[in-house]
Amino acid sequence: MKYDLKELTLDEKLLLLTGRDNWSTNGLCGKIKSVFMADGPCGLRKVEEENTSDDETKLGITLGSHTRLATAMPALSVVANSWNEEAAYLDGATIASDCVEGAVDVLLAPGVNIKRNVLNGRNFEYFSEDPYLTGKLARAFVEGVQDQGVGACVKHFVANNNERDRYCTSSEVDDRTLHEIYLPAFEETIKAKPWTVMCSYNPVNGVQMSHNAKMLKKVLREELGFDGLIVSDWEAVWDHPKAVKATLDLRMPANADAFDQLKAAYEKGKITEEEIDFCVQNVLSLAEKTEKVERKVKYSQEQRHENAVKIAKEGIVLLKNEEGLLPLNKNQKIAVLGTLSAKIPQGGGSAIVSTGYRLKMLSQALGEKLGREVYYGPAIWRDVLTTSSLIKQHMQEIYHSDVAILCVGEQAPVVAEGCERETMKLTAVQEDLILRTAKYNKNVVVLVYGGSAIDMSAWIDSVKAVIFVGYAGEGINEALSSILLGETNPSGKLNETFPLCIEDTLTKGILDDGMVDYYSEGVLVGYRYYDTKEKGVLFPFGYGLSYSKFEYSDLKVEKVGKTDYIVSYNITNISDIDGKEVSQVYVKDVFASVLRPEKELKGFSKDFIKAGETKRVSIELNFRSFAYYSVVYDEWTVEDGDFVVMVGASSRDIRLSQKLFLNTEE
Ligand code: BGC
Repeated sequence: MKYDLKELTLDEKLLLLTGRDNWSTNGLCGKIKSVFMADGPCGLRKVEEENTSDDETKLGITLGSHTRLATAMPALSVVANSWNEEAAYLDGATIASDCVEGAVDVLLAPGVNIKRNVLNGRNFEYFSEDPYLTGKLARAFVEGVQDQGVGACVKHFVANNNERDRYCTSSEVDDRTLHEIYLPAFEETIKAKPWTVMCSYNPVNGVQMSHNAKMLKKVLREELGFDGLIVSDWEAVWDHPKAVKATLDLRMPANADAFDQLKAAYEKGKITEEEIDFCVQNVLSLAEKTEKVERKVKYSQEQRHENAVKIAKEGIVLLKNEEGLLPLNKNQKIAVLGTLSAKIPQGGGSAIVSTGYRLKMLSQALGEKLGREVYYGPAIWRDVLTTSSLIKQHMQEIYHSDVAILCVGEQAPVVAEGCERETMKLTAVQEDLILRTAKYNKNVVVLVYGGSAIDMSAWIDSVKAVIFVGYAGEGINEALSSILLGETNPSGKLNETFPLCIEDTLTKGILDDGMVDYYSEGVLVGYRYYDTKEKGVLFPFGYGLSYSKFEYSDLKVEKVGKTDYIVSYNITNISDIDGKEVSQVYVKDVFASVLRPEKELKGFSKDFIKAGETKRVSIELNFRSFAYYSVVYDEWTVEDGDFVVMVGASSRDIRLSQKLFLNTEE
């Protein structure tokens, strides 16, 4: 149905600018379609009983009883570790099926904020420290959601990189850094025409994002071309009239004072009817979209679960594999330890999902594939109520097993929205457990569950194999058992650098009063910093092992336009196992007039290559691959001169490179 602005009274218009309740827009008693929104990025979180405190459900305290059951999908950080746009699309399309069944019009995802702070409790909800990788995957996710007739909400606009004091700490960030690091993922995602964008809580350069006219009106709408509805983060509006002036269309959730505030501002001439109409029109257009689309449940519940397994298999990262310990030999006696192997570890907050899926413990999943029982020991050394005889029994099992698989890590509420992790390390108890296990068994495989980088310095040299699982969703143990036994060849690579320790990270810029976070590192975020400053890291950006071995050769960089090139190269699988390789193309400006990072990701490809076969990969570079954002010209600028194109298996494993002289006059 087409709604006509002219048929609404001023009062009705004002009512449309805030929600009806926690999750839906005002339908003016049936005159207009009320649009229902729900979280989130790891699967649908639809709160069904409004009398429950939302805080409680976010903390996962009342899991299951108050939020609708849905498929727990891998967290977006796991999706990002897949480096696979098809996996990101599938993720979005799968969550959309839960939305259609649950009568949800708009999914409050994906989150596309850049991982600037390794301790940020929401990193698991985000894709990467790199804007290019984030943009490509988030765009595919949005397409996956919206192709099923469900709207997406790209969040949180913008520079929302801390959870500590997230409502009031201003992100003080210069224009160049905004354009090169924090805006490109929004820019790329907007190409998929998301129905909505959510503004963040934090101020940017001193002005609250919900009424930051420069960022919302000038940058998001005019520069980046967003033509949908801007919704506030929940309770993020502090001054509603100013928000309307800044073109924030919808204040969520319902606010009892909103109407009076807006009416008074209108009567005093602080906001005009034209400004009100602009926002109302966007609310009406959103309602129209939800009515116009064809909604379909593309995947059955079983298929949704299968998709969760499939994506988890793509996003789990093998970090260490000494002496080819993995894949496991089917005759080996295996012991699985740690309660995390019997759970679906998740981060907390609005991304938490209640799943009805009855999880198979990892020992069970392995046992089914092996056709025999696999030992499971829940005890985590000393920190649970247990007896010394039970601990002794576990240690004996470890001692008599060929391989000990140890499941460690962190989850909600330590990793959650509104929180910052206190440390990059595992707990002392967990570190101790790893070291003790390694004392009694020389074949230890550590599975690490978490939302972001972990400092492994205390124990990594004592174990042979490490897998970063992340929050891999309800398909976690099917995916892990398949990887551990070699049915699936791991192919995930890290979306963020794993620094050696917290002291090596750059996010210590919060001033004592907690009011301003000065982004003094500028564009040197993540590997852009570590690689430019030549700092040692535990695992670099883009790193991940496979059971196969790949060789890169025959790089060609062909000019096809003024600033357009085609980069092509061969990848040969020189092992006898089929596998997938993520290759990455980086660009460096050698003699730039402004400070530029050592290298920047400008393309990537994930390819399945059969044992012994060679595949030619081809990647396009364009103007933006070479450009920086000039604060003098207020636009993207390419300087003629020397560049290097690098092709690597990670940001620190460059296999091929070629110089080129860029001359735009030619
Ligand atoms: C979060 C959003 C979320 C909203 C609704 C806010 O606290 O920051 O990401 O979509 O709550 O749950």
